[in-house]
Amino acid sequence: MRALTVVPTHPGSVAVIDVPDPEPAEGQLLVEGLFMGVCGTDHEIAAGDYGTAPQGADRLVLGHESLGRVRSAPEGSGFAEGDLVVGVVRRPDPVPCGACAAGHFDMCRNGRYTERGIKERHGYGSELWTVEADYAIAVNPGLADVGVLLEPTSVVAKAWEQVRRVGERSWFSPQRALVTGAGPIGLLAALIGTQLGLEVHVLDRVTSGPKPELVQALGATYHDGSAVDVFKTLTPDVVIEATGAGQLVFEAMAYTASYGIVCLTGVSSAGHKLPVDAGGLNRELVLENDVVLGSVNANLEHYRSAAVALAAADRDWLARLITRRVPLADAAEALTTTGSSDDIKTVVRLSESD
Ligand code: BGC
Repeated sequence: MRALTVVPTHPGSVAVIDVPDPEPAEGQLLVEGLFMGVCGTDHEIAAGDYGTAPQGADRLVLGHESLGRVRSAPEGSGFAEGDLVVGVVRRPDPVPCGACAAGHFDMCRNGRYTERGIKERHGYGSELWTVEADYAIAVNPGLADVGVLLEPTSVVAKAWEQVRRVGERSWFSPQRALVTGAGPIGLLAALIGTQLGLEVHVLDRVTSGPKPELVQALGATYHDGSAVDVFKTLTPDVVIEATGAGQLVFEAMAYTASYGIVCLTGVSSAGHKLPVDAGGLNRELVLENDVVLGSVNANLEHYRSAAVALAAADRDWLARLITRRVPLADAAEALTTTGSSDDIKTVVRLSESD
């Protein structure tokens, strides 16, 4: 079978190669890959900046955003041939740390977790893949076109859950949320924000193309002006930051409402320096009981709530997030080039028949 692979830390090494078909071990499903989603992490791995191959392997099979159709499933697994499934990205560390032992592997404390398609485990970017039944998530059969959005949705489901848990340390009744960045994570965060009944605003730089319309279609408000002006006017109760842009991160911290919550989800590269009024920022956070938290990855609960969020969303709206579908044969190019600012989500078609 064909698989999309890379030699981690070697820029220019992304290639579709032939590899042996996988054999499902006990307790595993054999799955026909339908789609693999591409995100910033994949671009970073392709550029040689991130990612680790499994022990003893040179190449890593890419793909942590998945969707496939079950070919075979162990009896009693709850899955059957033909079911749509998504594979979970992370596996707990072997120690395991307290968080991993409690099933909260998204909060792993010793960094020895592994991740499919990213860190020491082959991903889902191949024509066939296997997954432990316990790490497979059932997808509503009506979501064959858009179920590949489940993994990024799990990441924002976690972010919102974290915001709620932090907020509930005291009286909590948020009204207004601002999402910064209208990429897939930002738009899916806005979707869940509207599902939670919040007044949602989204800030991005682009002034045309599908992003403003997609935000409006949610009943949310799109902003493309100066970030500081938008923050000052809105004074949001919650900010979901989905750009990783340093300047915006600090502005978000400075302009929330009293005991505002800023949840950072964007991974930025190190080395960007900014002059910051550290005293002023500290004063603001203390005097307003503000919280800034980082959120990454997702555990099984978050995948399940993401599946509910996707099933409740407008299917056409979700389909419009997928702006580019490329065949597996062209995937290496899709990973090493960045699309236009109108591009939202690129997916790789793994199956000839879909
Ligand atoms: C994935 C997460 C993963 C993170 C860090 C993200 O792109 O969605 O599941 O934990 O990268 O590797």
